[in-house]
Amino acid sequence: MIETIDIKIGQTAKSRINELDFDNIPFGRVFSDHMFVAEFDNGVWKNFEIRPYEFLSLSPANTILHYGQSVFEGMKAYKNLNGEAILFRPLDNFIRLNKSARRMCIPELPEELFMGGLTELIRKDSQWIPDRPGTSLYVRPFIFASDDYIGIKPSDTYKFIIFTCPVGAYYSQPVRVKIETEFSRAFEGGVGYAKTGGNYAASLYPAKLAQEKGYDQLIWTDGKTHQYIEESGTMNLMFVIDGKIITAPTDDTILKGVTRDSALTLARDWGIEVEERKVAVAEILEALKAGKVQEAFGTGTAATIAHIAEIGYDGVDYQLPPVEGRTVSNKILAALNDIKLGKAEDKFNWIHKV
Ligand code: COI
Repeated sequence: MIETIDIKIGQTAKSRINELDFDNIPFGRVFSDHMFVAEFDNGVWKNFEIRPYEFLSLSPANTILHYGQSVFEGMKAYKNLNGEAILFRPLDNFIRLNKSARRMCIPELPEELFMGGLTELIRKDSQWIPDRPGTSLYVRPFIFASDDYIGIKPSDTYKFIIFTCPVGAYYSQPVRVKIETEFSRAFEGGVGYAKTGGNYAASLYPAKLAQEKGYDQLIWTDGKTHQYIEESGTMNLMFVIDGKIITAPTDDTILKGVTRDSALTLARDWGIEVEERKVAVAEILEALKAGKVQEAFGTGTAATIAHIAEIGYDGVDYQLPPVEGRTVSNKILAALNDIKLGKAEDKFNWIHKV
């Protein structure tokens, strides 16, 4: 049983919802009316408040601006066929946020704070949840250090904020990805598994070089040998070869994706064989050359199931079969949609009614 928390509820003077074109929602650029804010000071989380979405005021000496002590999450809210607001697997995001927080020396959140702030905020802005196919309300909880201090040490104070953002597709078409063997995203013992800003910042330059060559994203390989496939900075990766799903295990260099787990759980439930093991670049290249990669796709909250159209390696681009014939990834995508809409049984207890 989750205890409730006392939240001061504020109200925007004027809703901006009429400015939103529900038929044409970009990803990540429009923000809903309110946000939830909590503060950590003197060893406790306090001052829980829902207030209008607004700019933050920070001192230039705020440690977050210099040393990046922050963690974040991403999840989505939907409207089911009865028009009820639901969140998809929010407790998994809560667990992962605290796992990231521990690695970044950030105080963990109590469950009632995370879930209480989240549900109140979604209730407050429920009219911002879009219901056209492929749209959702993206939810961004994050915690950041807030001391004004320019020495290196964990901050004594923090802010936990949740804001939301109606979104359309992150990738509007199947993606072209390049296997990266020069730059590295993560190393054993590092922070690859944590959802922290630095992982994304470090990926920007290599991704930009690949984007200049027409790719949408990178496929990261292990930092030591570049011989094993890890993840793509915006999603986990899966390959379908001989009817089996093959994916890298989530250890300390790979983000433990919630959509990844959902896809694998469904596949196993349907009797599809899943191999979670090290995936050698050489193995994928051999399968690509032999035309044996039936499907490749990314899984992520923002990306949901993103079909991979083409994989580049060492100057050669390998085309994958047409998306229409991809039975595994299309079945997973359809099943996830049906569960979120309430059209299919929520067999694994993934739906959290707000
Ligand atoms: C997510 O999928 O929620 C992420 O945080 C990744 C980013 C591409 C938006």
